[in-house]
Amino acid sequence: MEFHEAVRAHHGCTQFQTRPIPDDKLRAVLAAARLSPSQNNIQPWRFIVVRDDEQKRKVAQACPKGKPVAEAPVVIIALAVEEDIPVTIAGYISAYPLDVAVAIHTLRLAATAEGLGSQWIVDFHEEKIRAIFGVPEGIHPIAVIPLGFPSEVTAPTNGGKTMDDGRKSQNEIIAYNEYPW
Ligand SMILES: Cc1cc2nc3c(=O)[nH]c(=O)nc-3n(C[C@H](O)[C@H](O)[C@H](O)COP(=O)(O)O)c2cc1C
Repeated sequence: MEFHEAVRAHHGCTQFQTRPIPDDKLRAVLAAARLSPSQNNIQPWRFIVVRDDEQKRKVAQACPKGKPVAEAPVVIIALAVEEDIPVTIAGYISAYPLDVAVAIHTLRLAATAEGLGSQWIVDFHEEKIRAIFGVPEGIHPIAVIPLGFPSEVTAPTNGGKTMDDGRKSQNEIIAYNEYPW
């Protein structure tokens, strides 16, 4: 899929077919995430790929709205490695969660380009996710990402939505040469 087509087609997917994800598609999605940029190229992301039904069931139970997680054939847990990059940007925010966010979006855009749907879920019980996988201190679960072929209800653009749905206009978010808001 061409880049702009993938950007426009990209939407959250919450209903998945039971059809498994072919290994080559999953590999392509993970390979894209690996190539993401990060501050000082530290790459403070880790991804746990969950295909085991029992593990998936536990992850779904750790999410208050876990139905898509239970139904998706693959669930990816994105984690941030805190000790890799403790510096802050302008004293406001650490860079490492931003790096992981970039990688998550690269992964999800690649999934869209492969004809897969995904969702970015931050609504999870951190301690439960830690316990399921034995995640140590200093490593932070950042997102739970169900992944699979979209069901007909959501394919190809989340029920027929267009890319502009719900998005602010360019005038609201882009300015040139000054801060006018
Ligand atoms: C950082 C981040 C966190 C999100 N967390 C959740 C979440 O916990 N649950 C959920 O259903 N969607 C979540 N989303 C999806 C957004 O709600 C969604 O991207 C937004 O409404 C735009 O819809 P679209 O992605 O289908 O175009 C999250 C998205 C981002 C970028």
